[in-house]
Amino acid sequence: MHVFVTGATGWIGSATVDELLAAGHEVTGLARSDASAAALQANGAHVRRGDLDDLASIKAGAEDAEAVIHLANKHDFANMAASAAAERAAVQTIGDALAGTGRPFLLASGVAGLTQGRPATEDDASPFHGPDSARGGSENLALDFVDRGVHTVSLRFAPTVHGAGDHGFIATIAAVAREKGVSGYPGEGTNRWAAVHRSDAARLVALGLAKAPAGARLHAVAEQGIPSRDIAAAIGRALGLPVASIALDDVQDHFGWIGMFFSMDLAGTSDRTRELLGWAPTGSTLIEDIDAGAYSAGTPMPA
Ligand SMILES: NC(=O)c1ccc[n+]([C@@H]2O[C@H](COP(=O)([O-])OP(=O)(O)OC[C@H]3O[C@@H](n4cnc5c(N)ncnc54)[C@H](OP(=O)(O)O)[C@@H]3O)[C@@H](O)[C@H]2O)c1
Repeated sequence: MHVFVTGATGWIGSATVDELLAAGHEVTGLARSDASAAALQANGAHVRRGDLDDLASIKAGAEDAEAVIHLANKHDFANMAASAAAERAAVQTIGDALAGTGRPFLLASGVAGLTQGRPATEDDASPFHGPDSARGGSENLALDFVDRGVHTVSLRFAPTVHGAGDHGFIATIAAVAREKGVSGYPGEGTNRWAAVHRSDAARLVALGLAKAPAGARLHAVAEQGIPSRDIAAAIGRALGLPVASIALDDVQDHFGWIGMFFSMDLAGTSDRTRELLGWAPTGSTLIEDIDAGAYSAGTPMPA
């Protein structure tokens, strides 16, 4: 199958491209820079130059392919509304381009914020609707296209897709620990984060393309929920720093933008996904990766 992948040069995207090529697919990745184009070509993928702000490039990429996997995201945490708007516009554009074709459209989403006080399951519909909601309500927007003849599949990633080279949330939390000289956790540290290794996440994307029915919500979750104090303890061990609770009132000051996420209970299960696809995560756990030094010299996400 010829697959158009946005975000093909990203943390999850680059591993996904490897999985797709290994499965015999032809891949065209969206690239917004010479460096990204070169990286894609070096991996054996075709290149379509474009940008999330150039919707014509997204439309043309979707129309030329037999399937779309949308993983690009601006990740501008200082302006989350702008990231959400770009996300929604891209999803609308891809959905419109694929309407009536029955072609697969897999898009990145998350387990974050789906439920309160219990782990999110695949049966939990996203409460985020409309442009002003989290991620621009893009999961529900994309799933609405099932009724218009699009084979939409939502890829709900755990809040940490971890491994050596990760520059995401855990790398940012580790950077805060380095800067402050203490590995902190919010309040009691009992709030949990689901986790998945990058290799398992990428394998799930390829399996989802091959096997998931239209309308499926897949959970890329290997570990249901790791308490934030255990995450902080592992970071403290890895960096040789003391570990301490940060009062909930001080979380924002201490952690900056990541504090809001690190204080949330973001647990999730993946029983249905495993049953549906025969997916069995095999990668190292988050704590194993932190202990092995995956976050000891990482580069955090810019705010
Ligand atoms: N990683 C996680 O732990 C995690 C957890 C939950 C959900 N997710 C979601 O999964 C998806 C993939 O995440 P990731 O961690 O792989 O992200 P990432 O490493 O930050 O990669 C982002 C990708 O988007 C591309 N991109 C950024 N701005 C763009 C723009 N303006 N136009 C076109 N492309 C642009 C980047 O291209 P360049 O190479 O040119 O920068 C890169 O390929 C995202 O939607 C993310 O929110 C990730």
